[in-house]
Amino acid sequence: MSPRVPVAGPSIGSLEEELVLEVVRHGWYENAGLYPDRFERAFAERHGVRHAFALPSCTAGLHLALAALDLGPGDEVIVPELTWIATAAPVVYVGATPVFADVDETDWCIDPAAVEACISSRTRAIIAVDLYGAVCDMAALRGLAERHGLALIEDAAEAVGSRRDGRMAGSLGDVGVFSFHGSKTMTTGEGGMLVTDRDDIAYRVRVLRDHGRDPGDRWFWNREVGFKYRMGALPAALGLAQLQRLDELVDQKRRIFSWYAEALADVPGISLNVERPTVHQSYWMTTLLLDRRHRLRKEALYAGLSALGIDVRPFFHPLSELPAFAHLSEARAAHRRNHVAYDVSSRGINLPSALNLTRADIERVARGVKLVLGVAAERAA
Ligand SMILES: Cc1ncc(COP(=O)(O)O)c(C=O)c1O
Repeated sequence: MSPRVPVAGPSIGSLEEELVLEVVRHGWYENAGLYPDRFERAFAERHGVRHAFALPSCTAGLHLALAALDLGPGDEVIVPELTWIATAAPVVYVGATPVFADVDETDWCIDPAAVEACISSRTRAIIAVDLYGAVCDMAALRGLAERHGLALIEDAAEAVGSRRDGRMAGSLGDVGVFSFHGSKTMTTGEGGMLVTDRDDIAYRVRVLRDHGRDPGDRWFWNREVGFKYRMGALPAALGLAQLQRLDELVDQKRRIFSWYAEALADVPGISLNVERPTVHQSYWMTTLLLDRRHRLRKEALYAGLSALGIDVRPFFHPLSELPAFAHLSEARAAHRRNHVAYDVSSRGINLPSALNLTRADIERVARGVKLVLGVAAERAA
């Protein structure tokens, strides 16, 4: 039997091995900070921003961003209904309330009109998520944020290497955050990055991520209680190598998407991610939507593909439906309001998008999809 087709995973090459080995051998003592600094500088330069902070995770980045903006109890933060829980959990960490806004039907990113309808006198920030490699309408969101005096955070965990109007995803808000989890386009195993052009936010992040010490403090003098959110030298070396290969990694993601688009072109009743004309998509996950009136449910497609040795994931569940949030009155209101998110989520699955997949793997998945949908002339391998 053929091995299972993995849903996600990185491309690690000789450059990564070389830099990590260099750090294992020499990245200690006075060199301990060398690679984190290099990674941060190179990442900031690549994204055209003044400041970048390498962190243990993207979740830590979101937590730091909210803490640096001094958000807390009584404040509301608007988040998209469709995203991984890591976007909304840090809102709860700081004691604020997440408000779930509906998404756009075309690219599944937060809908600026829905955001506007969620703004109240308690709203302090918007977290926009560049879902599956798409990039939100950040110009419209920025306009809203400026009109209402809100902070705009871009969660580009899934969109490193994407661009909108030529500008890098993650660099389009007051703060941007990225994930380098092992499933992501660019990885450090676990890891993340926070970027910002705002010196005031950068200063607070620098203090808060290092247990409340002044920047450059050598006297181990803590002015406040902060967090321990720094990236070590080994993952930073891996990240620096991956960053140098970012264009190649995104090209491979785009190739995987185009193989799917070709192999599934003649299958009726399904659609894939949409790339807007102004966006250069990095297609973190090629995602398949069943048409609304399809006779098959996504659960059956998921089970059928899994049985064929093809690892898939369900489209994110609406956050307001999760037991983690469903008890909140805000979640109950969101459930009644966010029709697009509930509809899209109920029809979508992520297809295998690991960076090591070959065209033959994608064709095997496509045959599996056709078989499960009952449109296959051939048998799945
Ligand atoms: C949209 C989104 N935000 C945040 C995160 C959190 O990233 P991390 O796992 O690096 O904390 C993820 C990770 O899967 C994500 O998909």
